[in-house]
Amino acid sequence: MEKFQKNNLKKIIELLNSSDNNIIVLGAGMSAESGIPTFRGENGLWNKYGVPKMDSYNKFLNNPEEWWNNEINMKMDKYIYELRHKINVAKPHNGHFIISKLEKLGIIKGVITQNIDNLDHRAGIKNLIEIHGNRTKFRCIECEKTFDRNEIIIKKPPKNCPKCNGIVKFDTVMFGEPISKTKLDKAKQLFNQSKVILAIGTSATVRPISGLFWIAEKEGKKIIDINPNETNLKEISTLNLKINAKRFLEILEKGITK
Ligand code: OAD
Repeated sequence: MEKFQKNNLKKIIELLNSSDNNIIVLGAGMSAESGIPTFRGENGLWNKYGVPKMDSYNKFLNNPEEWWNNEINMKMDKYIYELRHKINVAKPHNGHFIISKLEKLGIIKGVITQNIDNLDHRAGIKNLIEIHGNRTKFRCIECEKTFDRNEIIIKKPPKNCPKCNGIVKFDTVMFGEPISKTKLDKAKQLFNQSKVILAIGTSATVRPISGLFWIAEKEGKKIIDINPNETNLKEISTLNLKINAKRFLEILEKGITK
């Protein structure tokens, strides 16, 4: 690691050791080392298959029955097919478990993940906001009740919500679908309480989370960007480190003094 990078790493560890209520915001890069492709970037799904039409929620709402039939007959975009397959076989890596450990030690107050792959939950992270939903669950679009899916391949459409009879979809947020207000409020609360925000493996291009970084910076919070590539956060981050998520977390674990 070059000298500048080493200095930044030292400063990041010092900041985390000396500050309470630190939070982590995760993006697809966190799961890359579990074998799940990112969306953007050189090896991302958009590069391989092209950027999809961002209208999936409207399509679902227009005809949920047809949407579920397509799902059952595996009629889906190629990128979705690849993403699902990779998620189905993925396991959390050491970096996920280190975050869980940092939470137990009180170094990390909470984690906001944009990932839908359930790996953060499987690693034992407790104060976890899955802002884009969780692939292993269904959710009622009316009352937001969630249910475990219990099956990887769907053979028949889920029944309407037992609580309110609303339409049920995958919990994963579709393009154009509003983010749950409850989840967003919780995410904002975590941002509000923190002074140091660690962004790991996110391009910080997708709202609402990307917007929260800019608000945080205006409020004088410190943003640390962990990513092997340059991201949008370069204008506002206090420190950044060009490094893979897993390696960073393994180094961080050794430097934590609490
Ligand atoms: P992106 O695909 O936009 O960005 C992934 C980032 O991970 C890029 O900046 C890469 O440079 C970085 N990266 C790649 N390998 C890495 C590694 N080993 N360690 C650390 N970083 C690495 O993913 P997000 O920012 O998460 O929405 O994108 C946000 C949302 O866009 C996703 O949640 C998804 C998509 O639409 C939904 O699934 C609803």
